[in-house]
Amino acid sequence: MKENITLIGFMGTGKTSIGRRLAEKMEKNFIDVDDLIETQVGKPISMIFEEGESEFRELERKKIKSLRIKKNCVISCGGGVILKKENMEILQQISVIILLEASKETILRHIKSDGKEKRPLLNKEDPLNEIEDILRIRKPLYDGFASFRIIIDHKTIDEIVNEIMKLLGKEKK
Ligand code: S3P
Repeated sequence: MKENITLIGFMGTGKTSIGRRLAEKMEKNFIDVDDLIETQVGKPISMIFEEGESEFRELERKKIKSLRIKKNCVISCGGGVILKKENMEILQQISVIILLEASKETILRHIKSDGKEKRPLLNKEDPLNEIEDILRIRKPLYDGFASFRIIIDHKTIDEIVNEIMKLLGKEKK
């Protein structure tokens, strides 16, 4: 089995909190790609986005490239990581990719409780509409790159983590 696990999914699907708990339980190191970018640049993602989304995507691409040498990690990616095929080729080489899925209502609830400034792409007048529009474009990409998918609605972090661990047990060694 591949040593690393990558979590992908739309904003607000809990990739960071689930990833952190999964890493703890599986005794792996936890990597949050957005956190790495913020630490490197010394600015929050929202400020990086002020310079343009393409600036952020380039930082994200470089960060993913730097992960090629990682071992024994749970990697939590920003929701837009699937927009560059190059990112996903690297992640597929080094890890098992798990897609976290949620209804748009769950997504909206999570992003509201995190604070709307945190997600520049959804910091709009009608975020539900925005979620629908972005999801429509991204859904085939998420589906295409994932080896496994988990629906997170109405589940606790521990339930989701247990589900992931069960799924991984099914993977061919
Ligand atoms: C983005 C998702 C965010 C962050 C950035 C762009 C996206 O991460 O990388 O705001 O394009 O979906 P989360 O998925 O952790 O919110």
